[in-house]
Amino acid sequence: MIGLRSGDTNRRPAAGMNGAARVFSDGVAIIDLPKIEDPRGNLSIIEEQNHVPFEVKRVYWIYDVPGGQVRGGHAFKRQEEFIVALSGSFDVVVDDGSAQRKYHLNRSYFGLYIPPGFWRHMEEFSTNSLALIVSSEQYDQGDYIRDYEEFLSYNNAK
Ligand code: TYD
Repeated sequence: MIGLRSGDTNRRPAAGMNGAARVFSDGVAIIDLPKIEDPRGNLSIIEEQNHVPFEVKRVYWIYDVPGGQVRGGHAFKRQEEFIVALSGSFDVVVDDGSAQRKYHLNRSYFGLYIPPGFWRHMEEFSTNSLALIVSSEQYDQGDYIRDYEEFLSYNNAK
């Protein structure tokens, strides 16, 4: 399980990104966002090409997830994404075709950057959790790979 306490990684920014990141295999990274602490309530920020290494084309969020449900079992050919647990917690399981890694997201001031070409799903949503997904692409059904065998073939052909 990987979270803020993970110590087995390089601490360096991902390309095109202005901030602290722990980069895992093939560019998957936990990116720390600015956190402006204030007695009135804290504030965090995502700017395109600054806190995330891409231009933002779309933002969506997943909420009201019933206990035990799994979301997002698929890969993207082009989409880069950044996932933040704005509320509560969940796990993101990222698979490069040969190994899986699980990232535990549980704070609104860091998130998981996933480049294209990884199979990923989200699980273990806590009650009232809110998952924010910031994407480099507008919605395009053609960018999805929803079949795991097809994903493996796609990755092998790269
Ligand atoms: P889907 O990507 O299958 O959800 P998940 O991978 O998180 O389980 O999307 C569920 C439905 O929502 C599907 O019918 C497509 C639609 N959808 C859009 O219309 N626009 C979007 O930006 C997204 C993410 C989904």
